[in-house]
Amino acid sequence: MIEDKAITEAISRLFEEIEFPAQPTGLYDPLRYMISIGGKRLRPHLCLLAWSLYRDALSPEVLDCAAALEVFHTFTLIHDDIMDRSPMRRAHDTVWKKWDEDTAILSGDVMCIDSYRRLCSAPAPVLSEVLSLFSDMAAKVCEGQQYDMDFESLPRVSKSEYMEMIGLKTGALIAASAKMGAVLAGASAGDAGKLYDYGYTLGLAFQVADDYLDTYGDSAVFGKPIGGDILNGKKTWLFMHALDKAESLQGGIDAETLLREMAFEAVSEEEKAAKIAKVRALYDALGVGEDARAEVRRLSALALDAVSGLAAPDAYAAAGRLRAFADALVGRAK
Ligand code: IPE
Ligand code: IPE
Ligand code: MG
Ligand code: MG
Ligand code: MG
Repeated sequence: MIEDKAITEAISRLFEEIEFPAQPTGLYDPLRYMISIGGKRLRPHLCLLAWSLYRDALSPEVLDCAAALEVFHTFTLIHDDIMDRSPMRRAHDTVWKKWDEDTAILSGDVMCIDSYRRLCSAPAPVLSEVLSLFSDMAAKVCEGQQYDMDFESLPRVSKSEYMEMIGLKTGALIAASAKMGAVLAGASAGDAGKLYDYGYTLGLAFQVADDYLDTYGDSAVFGKPIGGDILNGKKTWLFMHALDKAESLQGGIDAETLLREMAFEAVSEEEKAAKIAKVRALYDALGVGEDARAEVRRLSALALDAVSGLAAPDAYAAAGRLRAFADALVGRAK
């Protein structure tokens, strides 16, 4: 089994040395920019972690596929930031803000294509499985992003609709990252499926944590603006849960008040700040922040259930590694 430290070092090297075409700079500079400003790189990490449960050394092929996952993820962020009108990402200006929207669209497109090129390094016997895993995932992310936007104009959705949406936009990629490492390593279909389920459920926990941090995080640490989800009328776990609680008359807040504050169209900076403060005060009264943290822990524990009984050579150590990875995501502030 490969040590976690070795995986972290391999990932740092991978993205320090990653190359994109030089010309035209207007197309490729945003790719270099987004990769150089970092991010947590958890998807390639999970891919290499899954691989390392079965193998003792990293190969150039698995590193290329791990890079493909991060490059694809970063492409989705470039487009997501246009869709969410978000000015800040990884504590830097977003691509549409630093350049313009046309640049963000086209650089995002070529970044998606670049991820497929890297994926073609997968060894021939598993290439077709890897490509279909990746393509299925990519379509799911788009479907999830469409639901996320559709939900903005609805007053509310159910928790199960919310879970399905985040499973598509966020769970699918984390699931595919874990499964890809297993498939490349030659793990059994049973183990690859368990690792997919682990990644998927961990992805749900990850998105609930992201929703929590969007309201309760520290922008300087989180690297993204606080309150964007409230301003965009996003159907986050916090909002859906707050409505559920208000409807059953908990916390002395009625659902009408919450729906009214959320529907308010804030235009000026003062109005935006006031709207975020008001909605957050309602959340506070309802105690949804604490509930969200509990939900992240619940989903993370569920993710671990999915990987019990792996047929990895050292199943005990594998369980420990997967638990540590999940724990790091539960406790994250960025
Ligand atoms: C952000 O992903 C998008 C979500 C799925 C919430 P990350 O939080 O992994 O972003 P980076 O890559 O670390 O910047
Ligand atoms: C994004 O969800 C998921 C994808 C990028 C596919 P968010 O819109 O919540 O992600 P952030 O908060 O902007 O990173
Ligand atoms: Mg979004
Ligand atoms: Mg966003
Ligand atoms: Mg978010």
